[in-house]
Amino acid sequence: MNHTRSRINWNEPEIDRRVRALLARMTLAEKIGQMVYKDGAKDRAEALIRAGSVGILANVHGADEVNRVQAIAVQESRLGIPLLTGNDVIQGYRTIFPIPLAQASSWNCELIERHATIAATEAIAAGTRWTCTPMVDVARDPRWGRIAEGAGEDTWLNCAVGRAQVRGFQAAEAATGRRFLSCVKHFAAYGACEAGRDYDTVDISENTLRNVYLPPFRACVDEGIETVMASFNEILGRPAAANHFLLTQILREEWGFAGLIVTDYNAVYELMTHGIAGSPGAAACAAIAAGVDVDMNADIFLGNLEKLVTSGRVAAAPIEGSAYRMLYLKFWLGLFDDPYTPAGREAEVLLCGAHREAARALARQSMVLLRNEGGLLPLPSTGRIAVVGPLADDGDAPLGWWRCRGRAEETVTVLEGIRQACGAANVLHAAGCALTEGGREGFADAVAAAQAADVVVLVLGESARMSGEAHSRADLGLPGRQEELLRAVHATGKPLVVVLINGRPLATPWLAENVSALLEAWQPGTEGGHAVADLLFGRCSPSGKLVVTIPRAAGQVPVYYNRKTTGRPAVDTGAWQYLDMPPRPFYPEPDTTRHLDLPATPQFPFGFGLSYTWFEYRDLQLSAAAIPSDGRVEVSATVRNAGERPGDEVAQLYVQDVVGSITRPVKELRGFRRISLRPGEEGRVEFSLGRAELGFFDARNEFVVEPGLFRVWIGGDSIGGLEGTFVVEGGAVSCGCGP
Ligand code: BGC
Repeated sequence: MNHTRSRINWNEPEIDRRVRALLARMTLAEKIGQMVYKDGAKDRAEALIRAGSVGILANVHGADEVNRVQAIAVQESRLGIPLLTGNDVIQGYRTIFPIPLAQASSWNCELIERHATIAATEAIAAGTRWTCTPMVDVARDPRWGRIAEGAGEDTWLNCAVGRAQVRGFQAAEAATGRRFLSCVKHFAAYGACEAGRDYDTVDISENTLRNVYLPPFRACVDEGIETVMASFNEILGRPAAANHFLLTQILREEWGFAGLIVTDYNAVYELMTHGIAGSPGAAACAAIAAGVDVDMNADIFLGNLEKLVTSGRVAAAPIEGSAYRMLYLKFWLGLFDDPYTPAGREAEVLLCGAHREAARALARQSMVLLRNEGGLLPLPSTGRIAVVGPLADDGDAPLGWWRCRGRAEETVTVLEGIRQACGAANVLHAAGCALTEGGREGFADAVAAAQAADVVVLVLGESARMSGEAHSRADLGLPGRQEELLRAVHATGKPLVVVLINGRPLATPWLAENVSALLEAWQPGTEGGHAVADLLFGRCSPSGKLVVTIPRAAGQVPVYYNRKTTGRPAVDTGAWQYLDMPPRPFYPEPDTTRHLDLPATPQFPFGFGLSYTWFEYRDLQLSAAAIPSDGRVEVSATVRNAGERPGDEVAQLYVQDVVGSITRPVKELRGFRRISLRPGEEGRVEFSLGRAELGFFDARNEFVVEPGLFRVWIGGDSIGGLEGTFVVEGGAVSCGCGP
């Protein structure tokens, strides 16, 4: 696939000329029409389209149907302005890739980029030209159902994965001859909702907003994304759809974003339920004043803006600006010259072999091997295997929440994947129990299958509808009777491999500590069963690493690796050895602030994942012991495959700014490299650290690199690694409290 990209240029004179000429012919109502998004799944809105009152039509699928409604816009509306057709193409269109959380666990930006190009290729064939993704909400609370939709708890990784997706969507032009738009969401800090309850209050400081939640959005804007979606939640007391500070001051003025700002679904209406506006008119005023261009399906702009402008309550200029941006995008996409989708492409590309193969490749790299006692895995493909559990033969759960046009009957289940890999005659199957409800009636069959087999593969987890939007959970355990089934099967004493299919980290301590092998497969998509079998039978080694910390219990949440330093750390960070600290009786005294009933550490740390081989790190080198604050230091290490199988390692680099003007995280990811090594082979991983990697927003919310000691680690997860130090030279660190 050709990866030439089509970044938008917002200053093309020819497009500008055409947009201005068109605007000059438009009525106020028609301009407002460009600011309206309608959900075609609920209402095809044909009369409105004919009246020129719809800018974006979403959730209409297939070239024929898209062409039919497009013809209404182009042939029956006064000015013939084409519709922008959009969809949530989040993890593929018909060929469903692993959920975004899983994709990120591959730490393979090339495959993630390729996924985006394939998703866009299928979407374009079916008439879609705009997708509401990437979702780059940093998510530190696994109770939040939408943790499934992003790249996990780390800011840096969300930046890298977001950028890869944007590049992948932009590359669709080279693959299809048609341009495609993406939309970064949800701007901003949606993942910080209280207790992981979806749509709930977000109350964080501007400093946390800038250091933790905003950088991935900035990364996508820098990568040339064309549209941004405001989030549902409030930020610093204002819902994002009415937040001038966020949408105008930061996004437009600080970052120079020239593209289109859409709200989330119905969010302009919800300004009233938020208690920010007392009427639809006031809600429209608040959204326009904040900088919103498009009202997503709330019909508030549609019903109120014209009157507000003619009565002078809303100025004409923002309407002109919003309509300009929408029309610019439509010209840039080529919709005015070629509004229709050619017939026949869907049959060629949807779910084609190459796309399935790419989904399988990404699924393989997305899965994280969490336990492999005694080297139970990989399994021999001979012998009898019992494949049990409620998700063993389930084609629905692996598709996750945003399966777009994916179909459960097209999914390769784990059972099918294993049957294909080692012959159906050797495979016994029993579901054992239902996922959430029902009794123990099926246990006996599952236990009998286990007893008759040499090894058991037990497939457990969550349904597709237990994560995703509006699907948060307070309990992070296995739903229903699954843990009981697990214990019953475990009691047979047969070698036991558990495969988890789920959309969030689960807290399952008994499972994590008692089964021989545990593979976290996430929701792996259409090709999930093949990918599981590829790993279980050792066609390749697992290489995914966690992008979220796995807690021991829901009560431990939030638990994330890059927590702030505290005065009495629960886990000794070792930073004291670099400080001139006179000894005190109670310091260092780790483990004092942990919960009484849990260890301070999580079940599995961020960055962790096993392989069928293992990797040794040695020879950490830094290019300098000291650098100026605008300088760079190169950090490298040798990674060696010390085992007997080929494998990929994700080498990770972390830094800590030991003394800062404000408290800094105990460590932060600042780079990663995936490296393939044959047995005995070694390679060097190299990283370059400069301003972007070492700086942060200080108490004045200015981005600074502060002088002082930095620690740096290179290793295979967030807890170990080779450690070095260097100094950033300069004057004294400011106390951060001055002007
Ligand atoms: C979700 C968005 C999505 C939009 C359009 C909303 O409810 O929050 O993520 O893009 O719907 O479907």
